[in-house]
Amino acid sequence: MSLPKRYLITSALPYANGLKHIGHLAGAYIPADIYVRYLRAQKRDVVYVCGSDEHGTAIPIQAMKEGTTAQAIIDKYHPIIEQNFKDLGISFDIYHRTSDPIHHETAQEFFTYLNDRGELEMKETEQYYDEEAKTFLADRFIKGTCPNCNHDSAYGDQCEKCGKSLSPDELINPVSTLSGKAPIKKATKHWYLPLNKHEDFLREWILKEHKDDWRSTVVGQCKSWIDGGLQPRAVTRDLDWGIKVPTKDGEGKVLYVWFDAPIGYISATKQWALNNNKDWKPYWYNADTKLVHFIGKDNIVFHCIIFPVMLQLHGNILPTNVPANEFMNLEGDKMSTSRRWSIEMDDYINDWIKKDNGGESLADVLRYYLTQIAPETKDSEFTWKGFQDANNSELVSIFGNFVNRTFVLMHKLCGGKVPLFHNDLIDDADKELIEAIQKSKIKIENLLEEYKFRDALFEVIDLARKGNQYLQKKEPWKKKTDNAEQGTENQKLIDNCIHLSLQLTANLAILINPFLPFTAKKMLHMMKVVEKILEWENAGSLKLLKQGYSIRAPELLFRKIEDEEITFQLEKLKQRSQMQKATSTTPNTENIKPSALSLKPEIVFDDFAKIDLRVGTIVAAEKVEKADKLLKLSVDLGFETRTIVSGIALQFKPEDIIGKQVTVVVNLAPRKMRGIESNGMILMAEDTSGKLHFINPDTKVDEGSAVS
Ligand code: 2FM
Ligand code: ZN
Repeated sequence: MSLPKRYLITSALPYANGLKHIGHLAGAYIPADIYVRYLRAQKRDVVYVCGSDEHGTAIPIQAMKEGTTAQAIIDKYHPIIEQNFKDLGISFDIYHRTSDPIHHETAQEFFTYLNDRGELEMKETEQYYDEEAKTFLADRFIKGTCPNCNHDSAYGDQCEKCGKSLSPDELINPVSTLSGKAPIKKATKHWYLPLNKHEDFLREWILKEHKDDWRSTVVGQCKSWIDGGLQPRAVTRDLDWGIKVPTKDGEGKVLYVWFDAPIGYISATKQWALNNNKDWKPYWYNADTKLVHFIGKDNIVFHCIIFPVMLQLHGNILPTNVPANEFMNLEGDKMSTSRRWSIEMDDYINDWIKKDNGGESLADVLRYYLTQIAPETKDSEFTWKGFQDANNSELVSIFGNFVNRTFVLMHKLCGGKVPLFHNDLIDDADKELIEAIQKSKIKIENLLEEYKFRDALFEVIDLARKGNQYLQKKEPWKKKTDNAEQGTENQKLIDNCIHLSLQLTANLAILINPFLPFTAKKMLHMMKVVEKILEWENAGSLKLLKQGYSIRAPELLFRKIEDEEITFQLEKLKQRSQMQKATSTTPNTENIKPSALSLKPEIVFDDFAKIDLRVGTIVAAEKVEKADKLLKLSVDLGFETRTIVSGIALQFKPEDIIGKQVTVVVNLAPRKMRGIESNGMILMAEDTSGKLHFINPDTKVDEGSAVS
């Protein structure tokens, strides 16, 4: 089969509404980056695009939480996420943003093209409306019980618990997230993409053409969508944040975020072409382009059904593959930003990469472990212990160990130079190793072409393992103790062993490069060779390092990860999620009115009487290091002054609250937060906008006074 002329690789555009966690990284970014780096090493024409998804209700909702504007939210998170990806070695050719004018124009042109050709239908329907907020309730502005899994906080567009895509009408007991009230129904006009008209195309294209070359999980999900009956899908919304609907009757309406976001791949390509003086069109119009979307499983319907229908109607090419990943859990539970049961990329970078001297290799350790446990066919699980084991038992003990031993032995036994290879002394072990190097290249290449990144990575490590076995079998150090001298047979045997081990090291640099680019770079430095050696066609060669060439002393590629570091991370994870529970008055910290909150079960007076509430005065306050939300307070309770850690730092400056009276739960068991023991809890009221208020007496009272 002839090779595609060019490749366009995309990773899902993350919402710029907050930090992204390592589950996102494992799902849509690391696999794409491995693939792209491999294609580049193959010298194929490849463009890798991504960027921030800056529309949809997720953005204004975050703005309300942070008490700011939607624009401020995207301007805050876009650069942080972009930098996080860079620090982890994700090598986009462009990281664009959907707020850019070029994207607005591209999305509007797309809509107009379909609308002008009658491919969209306009319909008036009854939709949920919040009478208090005076607005229709699209997507995340409405919540309710998921009809699929019974989760009580499913959004109007998706249930975050089971991942099912929903429409507001499917929610049981819907509630507005703006006012907390039950919404009414009101008539409104919208444009729809009639997916039902494209069923034959989708059946043919996915269920026949791609039934064998796409992942079965992806085909399976598409099949159940198609078999479930495709419905016309609204592509506009009554919102003021987004891309304006470009028709005269579209006033007050914007494009649905899932209509505009995938078009973001096209506008990012346009911007990349402008920046690099290239033509973007062949990437989206020529059949000899291979388009591959890397996504998480919750995005399958959009990338395999809705966007392909749009692309086809617009005259563009269709994706060749959509290797969606399943979910990655964390320490026995689903990863969740809102519950703070997650490891944000930003946190990982601060804790491991920035803190460590030569910390880039810690970026590779994460890349390694996330690839090793990639949820390619089923959900998988990140554990800190697994992370430590992957590093210590594989990267350090197998890969790093082989490279290090080879370098040390070369300096010790061969004077720091690449020794000669004496063909007349080649033996079975040498031949076996040479064959393994050549076979590995082919195996890895085939696996990468099939998006089997876990297996491909296993092969690379397995080759290093074979290198260690080879050294163990040959024991060149023993030959030297026999007083091997230049020209003697023993020295020649040493030379052969070290020569092959060095060629294997160079091969390992090429093969590991797509997965662990920082490590490959370090190996190049140690071998004193230029980046060109990493070209894929060099893999399998035994002539990568010239005989007589002197190379550098070894540097450790990976360091051991200690038990204390893992204990620290586990503790941190638990504390963060406990703090989240303690500092949020609603399960999701969403902007729901108190009236809408489900009331806690009734208690008897004795239950209440167990709680000892006292008035105290804040006498000192300071920020807790590396904890944005926490203040360490000293509270005078009359009978003693207590240290209390409180999650109010985002809204109160230490200097502004000294002297304030507060209500304190004084008999709450002590709890450690960020290493500080907190002895009690101060009570706060959270209003509908998420703003916190002190609960204090209307006039100053003695410290220690009981509240009952
Ligand atoms: O699920 C998400 O995070 C979406 N922002 C992904 C969009 S992918 C693409 F279509 F842009
Ligand atoms: Zn659900």
